[in-house]
Amino acid sequence: MSIPTPHIAAAEGQIAKTVLMPGDPLRAKFIAENFLTEPVLVNNVRGVQGHTGTWKGVPVTVMASGMGIPAIGIYSWELFNFYDVDNIIRIGSAGALRDDLKLMDIVAGQGACTNSNYINTFGVKGSFAPIADFTLLSKAVEAAREHGVEMKVGNILSADNFYSARGQEGNDEWKRMGVMAIEMEAAGLYCNAAYAGKRALCICTISDHLYRQEYLSSEDRQNSFTQMMEIALDTAVKMAEL
Ligand code: HPA
Repeated sequence: MSIPTPHIAAAEGQIAKTVLMPGDPLRAKFIAENFLTEPVLVNNVRGVQGHTGTWKGVPVTVMASGMGIPAIGIYSWELFNFYDVDNIIRIGSAGALRDDLKLMDIVAGQGACTNSNYINTFGVKGSFAPIADFTLLSKAVEAAREHGVEMKVGNILSADNFYSARGQEGNDEWKRMGVMAIEMEAAGLYCNAAYAGKRALCICTISDHLYRQEYLSSEDRQNSFTQMMEIALDTAVKMAEL
């Protein structure tokens, strides 16, 4: 397939080698307007905003993924395979499972378990383990330390369901296996990166704790998001220096 694609209208050369992906299009706009130098709107198909600008002199695109594996599956596939993007860093929110996690903590998905059937579309005869790219992960951990943040690194769960008919019960086994938190996109992103031979990472702020009924206020949500975003932007700079 050539560009533009069915879901991305950007022209050749308008998308940077590293793309930051929040779920929410308005977050993409916020990041572009508040952090990037000379941002240009490069996509607005279905309101899925993508903006390209620079951060510390390095070109970066911030484009929304929408919610869920099917959505990030489409956008990351087109970015990796048709726009020749090298690195995608998802910046999202997640609900904590593990007792030692607090609201506003930042977690990195070293691995992404899933209950989604998306993983089966690749046809492997067994259980593929979707993992983050080690270089991206290492650089993100380094960037986090420079911001005074000790990022928690481990397994996350990319669920197809935000709500569960079984209530919390459905999460007990994942928690028992040490899975840190639940979000809804990373496993799809990691599978696409693996298939394309590209790099991906998901970092999330903890917005709620599923076993303690705790939720971030909108102000804390914004503050913790800003910190995560700066870590992701600095990771893009480190990747450009490789
Ligand atoms: N489930 C899935 N995604 C989420 C959650 C959750 O509980 N919290 C924040 N993102």
